[in-house]
Amino acid sequence: MIDVKNLHKSFGPVHAVTDLSFSVAAGEVFGLLGPNGAGKTTTLRILATLLKPDRGQATVGGFDVLTQAEQVRSSIGVVNGGMGLYDRLTGREVLHYFGKLYRLTPPQIEARIEMLDALLELGDTLKRRCDEFSTGMKQKIVIARAVIHDPPIIFFDEATVGLDVMARRAVINFVKRYPSETRTVVYSTHVMSEVEELCDRAAIIYQGRLVALDNVAALKAQHGAKSLEQAFFAIVEGSQEVLA
Ligand SMILES: Nc1ncnc2c1ncn2[C@@H]1O[C@H](COP(=O)(O)OP(=O)(O)OP(=O)(O)O)[C@@H](O)[C@H]1O
Ligand SMILES: [Mg+2]
Repeated sequence: MIDVKNLHKSFGPVHAVTDLSFSVAAGEVFGLLGPNGAGKTTTLRILATLLKPDRGQATVGGFDVLTQAEQVRSSIGVVNGGMGLYDRLTGREVLHYFGKLYRLTPPQIEARIEMLDALLELGDTLKRRCDEFSTGMKQKIVIARAVIHDPPIIFFDEATVGLDVMARRAVINFVKRYPSETRTVVYSTHVMSEVEELCDRAAIIYQGRLVALDNVAALKAQHGAKSLEQAFFAIVEGSQEVLA
């Protein structure tokens, strides 16, 4: 569903993404794991067509990010930590507004809302105004809004930052349930435990480069590590020796 080949992106002297390649299959939760500044957001922004790569290719849902940006955008949903909502609208009104942007009819939007309510337990957020929402309530509506058009691919970028255990659980359960034979999730974070719990495979990115890519159990086994965190440090140390 996603195919990335030799992607490069620099900001002036900073090599944010260097020669990055990976693919994601349907049915997977694919982790993008790396410390602050590793290049995760830059990678996702390129895949979401918000940023052009300097070099390399990427297809998302079979569409090229450079030449078929419109089709890519209708195939994806994006959830990150800090997206604004319209204060004066209720959750339901927000979802209708965005559903209309995707050219859904009101009955189609209501059907989606019912489904998303079951998945995310939207509850009160549907009838209350966004300016009354807690952080967790906001994030539920942000997720529902991102998937109102039932996209085959969702990108999560640090989507649980600032959420308490309950709200975080709601996000994680949603991510677990979303993939299917025709759908996939890319989950970007620096929180190792979330990747361990959620992801089938993970790409570990460090200083813009891919330093490991495998299923989570294999990443741990290859380094005799009990946790992904232990494996991460072994991988990063190894890659520094190679780069030095
Ligand atoms: N618009 C920009 N202009 C200049 N430099 C940028 C820009 N966006 C990202 N960078 C730089 O590119 C590198 C990668 O940043 P990026 O945001 O992709 O990392 P990240 O893995 O998402 O980190 P975090 O975990 O902190 O979100 C960093 O060194 C960052 O300073
Ligand atoms: Mg980031």
